[in-house]
Amino acid sequence: MRKKLIDISWDAFRALPVAEKVPYLNPVGGIPYHTLFAQQFDRPLLERLGTLANSIRTIAKTRSGMDFLRQLISHKRAMLYFSQPSSRTFLSFYSACQILGMPTGEVRDTATSSEFKGESCEDSVRTFSSYFDLIVMRSPEKGLAEHMSWVLSNAERPIPVINAGSGQDQHPTQALLDIYTLQRSFERAGGLRDRTIVMVGDLARGRTVRSLAQLLANFPNIRQIFVAPPVFQIGTDIQEILRAKGVDFELTGDFHSVLPQADAVYMTRIQDEWDDETHPSRAVDISNFKFGLRELALIKPQTVILHPLPRRDEISTDIDRDPRAMYWRQMRNGMWIRAALIALTFGCENRILEFHRANV
Ligand code: CP
Repeated sequence: MRKKLIDISWDAFRALPVAEKVPYLNPVGGIPYHTLFAQQFDRPLLERLGTLANSIRTIAKTRSGMDFLRQLISHKRAMLYFSQPSSRTFLSFYSACQILGMPTGEVRDTATSSEFKGESCEDSVRTFSSYFDLIVMRSPEKGLAEHMSWVLSNAERPIPVINAGSGQDQHPTQALLDIYTLQRSFERAGGLRDRTIVMVGDLARGRTVRSLAQLLANFPNIRQIFVAPPVFQIGTDIQEILRAKGVDFELTGDFHSVLPQADAVYMTRIQDEWDDETHPSRAVDISNFKFGLRELALIKPQTVILHPLPRRDEISTDIDRDPRAMYWRQMRNGMWIRAALIALTFGCENRILEFHRANV
């Protein structure tokens, strides 16, 4: 009988600290089988993914390169199971699968699946695993992707799960593309080290910053500055993680005073879809947490401006054409890094790197 990937009960697995879950999730050679948490990625793995993404994007420039990429996992299929709205994450995973020749199916609203008739999420993903070889999953519920990864690890036909955003908790593949964008932005200037990264907006409920802060902790001498009104400041759980790792970080409400120090400014929108009595967005003055021409005048000539998107008005369209505005390139980088993650998950890394060496 095949050894189970997660051979402990759900209650026992759920209760583990994330660091103790990682050996179950990255079972062979430190490579993720399920991708659920930013903590599954250390610096060597992030560098490795960036190299693989660079190879894929270079190979994809030619028809013969695309023909090579498209046959890599054409025998596998992916289910894009998004029960929460998405443009970029959905489309970049869809495009990444196309690049690697992987046909896709999709459920974008549980009102269109048998969950509407009362089927449990467990039974739904077991159903998907009968037809597909990978589930990419976005959910408004914290921990649901984790639970489904445990279910599928114990199913007759185990298949990997990639967390494409889980409640207010984590968005690990967004953080992968953010790191990849920072690596590329700084590659000709000493790399991602000795930098000050300023993160701005709704940091309490923004899952992208919660994942990114943890990935940045892998890189040497990265100072993290969290800029938000008190009610939207970064959670104490993330602060504790950063403290335990010895990361130099600061919380402030004074955006303008920190802008001249920034090597990267990571803007985020107010996540008012999560509003409740404790976080009533409309009652909070966010006018000092926006980036426009005035803020552009305060940053260094090489500072990069990032945003996971979608934006509202926290970044003015006036700065879209400034060379430091990196958010559209950042978004496109998501397709390449997600293709790299899928290729790594399905064991295609060496073939891609060999093709790159031989042909480019
Ligand atoms: N950045 C991000 O997750 O965008 P979408 O919600 O459009 O997928």
